[in-house]
Amino acid sequence: MKSPLKFLFLTILGIILLINWFFGNPWYLTKSTYASQYETEYNITKALSSTKDETIFVDESGAIDLYEKVRVICIILTTEKDWNTKLSAVNNTWARRCNKNFFIMTTKLHRADIINSEYADNRTNLIHKVRNAFEFIHDKYIDDLDWVFKADDDTYAIIENLRFLLSHYNASRPGYLGFKFDKYVTNGYMSGGAGYAISRKGIKQLVQNGIRGNKCPVLKTKDNPQLSEDQEIGRCLESNQVPRLNSHDVYGRDTFHPYPVEQHLFGKLPQYLYSWCKQPPVEGRNCCSQFTISFHYMNPRSILLVDHLLYKTSVFGRTLPKQIGKVIQVGQYRP
Ligand SMILES: *[C@@H]1O[C@H](CO)[C@@H](O)[C@H](O)[C@H]1NC(C)=O
Ligand SMILES: *[C@@H]1O[C@H](CO)[C@@H](O)[C@H](O)[C@H]1NC(C)=O
Ligand SMILES: *[C@@H]1O[C@H](CO)[C@@H](O)[C@H](O)[C@H]1NC(C)=O
Ligand SMILES: *[C@@H]1O[C@H](CO)[C@@H](O)[C@H](O)[C@H]1NC(C)=O
Repeated sequence: MKSPLKFLFLTILGIILLINWFFGNPWYLTKSTYASQYETEYNITKALSSTKDETIFVDESGAIDLYEKVRVICIILTTEKDWNTKLSAVNNTWARRCNKNFFIMTTKLHRADIINSEYADNRTNLIHKVRNAFEFIHDKYIDDLDWVFKADDDTYAIIENLRFLLSHYNASRPGYLGFKFDKYVTNGYMSGGAGYAISRKGIKQLVQNGIRGNKCPVLKTKDNPQLSEDQEIGRCLESNQVPRLNSHDVYGRDTFHPYPVEQHLFGKLPQYLYSWCKQPPVEGRNCCSQFTISFHYMNPRSILLVDHLLYKTSVFGRTLPKQIGKVIQVGQYRP
């Protein structure tokens, strides 16, 4: 009498497990509706559709002034499959605030704002794509720029604040800045996802001496088996006398951020940052400079949301004073 019951029990258990395996979590394991709603990838089409800006009341004279004085060319790593999502979100928001912007992409299409790459879309090829892009910019635009800002299609950047920080430095001198990792490269290197800016003189040294002078061969090493683009560029800049510049504000707060705004604000940063950085990011309300420049791992939805709050929204009666003072400790190179 015992064994038929056991058989029935095991059969029912088996069926339940099979259903779970086929259909994912059943109702009794589903998380709250709030969580699943939050995780939904919204359709960004409506947020991308053009809006008339004539109802926006804002005095941009300070930003317009710097637009001519600190010319920034942006180069953005992307892939063709992300055209309608990541690329569109970036192209419709911060990229158009650069003096010029280019998407580095492997595609058969030829367009004025695309730097064509012949390398297949994979991680180890990123360094080749970015090196070629720096050569292209060097050959065609070196006299039209003060700085080159390299970022990814999941970077969100406030270009006006980048210009403000860069206005403290001299583009005729070699230099580069971003969010610094004190790891692998002797004096550290800048996170590629948070984005980094290289001065005109720095680009010349990188391309003429480093890439073309054959001083930076792309070689897989124990430290860099994946050939991380940011690490390799950092090493090449270091071996060609392009120093790192400070990007912290006067209160020591970060302007470039390697994670999304929520992770810095709510304190969900990964542990490795504390051993990789001499000055690790601060979690919580002190995470971010008032003149913050960038965040990484931003999905298209977050990019459009943050952009909407920054550029289509104002708080009545609240403006910046005419004199803002120093944002960084000028001339203080991060050791
Ligand atoms: C997104 O919305 C647009 C119109 O608002 C629609 O044409 C398009 O098919 C939608 N895309 C997806 C993937 O649902
Ligand atoms: C980016 O936006 C500009 C301005 O709307 C447009 O002319 C250009 O074709 C877009 N680039 C891409 C790659 O979609
Ligand atoms: C990336 O693509 C290149 C060809 O362009 C290939 O040689 C290399 O093995 C690929 N790397 C990976 C990790 O798939
Ligand atoms: C910028 O640096 C260049 C080269 O060192 C120098 O000739 C120039 O005077 C500097 N400009 C300013 C404003 O300091």
